[in-house]
Amino acid sequence: MKVPTPLIDNEAGRNRRSLAKVASAALLGALLTACEGAQSALAPAGDEAERVFNLFVVMLAAACLIWLAVFGTAVYAMRVRPHEHEERTASHFIFWGGIVFPVGVLTVLLLFGLPMLANLRPPGDGLRIGVSGEQWWWRVTYHSADQRSAVVSANEIRLPVGERTEFILDSPDVIHSFWIPSLGGKLDMVPGRTTRLTLEPTRTGTFRGVCAEFCGPSHALMAFPVVVMEREAFDLWLEARRAPAAETTDEPEGRELFLQAGCGSCHTIRGTPAAGVIGPDLTHVGSRLALGAGILPNDAPTFARFIRDAEEIKPGSLMPSFSMLPDAEISAIARYLDSLE
Ligand code: CUA
Repeated sequence: MKVPTPLIDNEAGRNRRSLAKVASAALLGALLTACEGAQSALAPAGDEAERVFNLFVVMLAAACLIWLAVFGTAVYAMRVRPHEHEERTASHFIFWGGIVFPVGVLTVLLLFGLPMLANLRPPGDGLRIGVSGEQWWWRVTYHSADQRSAVVSANEIRLPVGERTEFILDSPDVIHSFWIPSLGGKLDMVPGRTTRLTLEPTRTGTFRGVCAEFCGPSHALMAFPVVVMEREAFDLWLEARRAPAAETTDEPEGRELFLQAGCGSCHTIRGTPAAGVIGPDLTHVGSRLALGAGILPNDAPTFARFIRDAEEIKPGSLMPSFSMLPDAEISAIARYLDSLE
């Protein structure tokens, strides 16, 4: 009996094959584009990141060569010339391949890697930035070399290009890890202890930093934009952040409501009675690139959403949702915050 050719299956097979082609192209594309971008250790934009990247490439190449040699030897021994060896030959092979070779490789890698450490020393003077990992945002304090008062900000870091900046890292309660993959290695922020990290960005641009250690329910929701600027632009920017918030505002109603609702007991807006230090400093919050520690766009509707649903947007954070406030009041406060440039 003749079975009819299942035409439909051939078509399904073709569909499956073209689907597989599309999927593999998409996967390859995703893998390749993952090497670039604002948060990639494989696209270094800093001196330290470049050292780490070079070390990684050398170790990867060496590991591939050794892997090929080991497998080549195994294939040779099992397939090409499978025969018994004299005990003397086997001992030699173990001595050279199992002792001398690994010691040699590790010594070369050590000699290659050690000089990199010397260049990771902090600079004597220059810009120092204190960063404290909070639950779940970043307190950022700029200490200039000229002994002027520090500038407090949050959730965004700006750096001058081509200069070594020292980060002074700590945390009041849980362990976080400070990491800007494009600029350099990561370092833990440990309660009760100060850790120091030096970074030197080599090109301008906007990068992304993250918390690299699980620190609680909103661990994945604490990121921060990193903007590397020319020195002159950086000085102008820092000077503008040093100033208090504008006294006259287009949103006087929002300003009053912000103070009435008690927001000032947790947040500081310099130039107003709001002087709380529990939450992020909001003096120039409208000028930041993102809201909610690098996770949301910075605009009035997002401010309103955050005020209303803080507990849903950032689970476990200290800020309660202010959903009891009328929508009109939330919108007025949101417009006021958005105007703080
Ligand atoms: Cu902070 Cu993870």
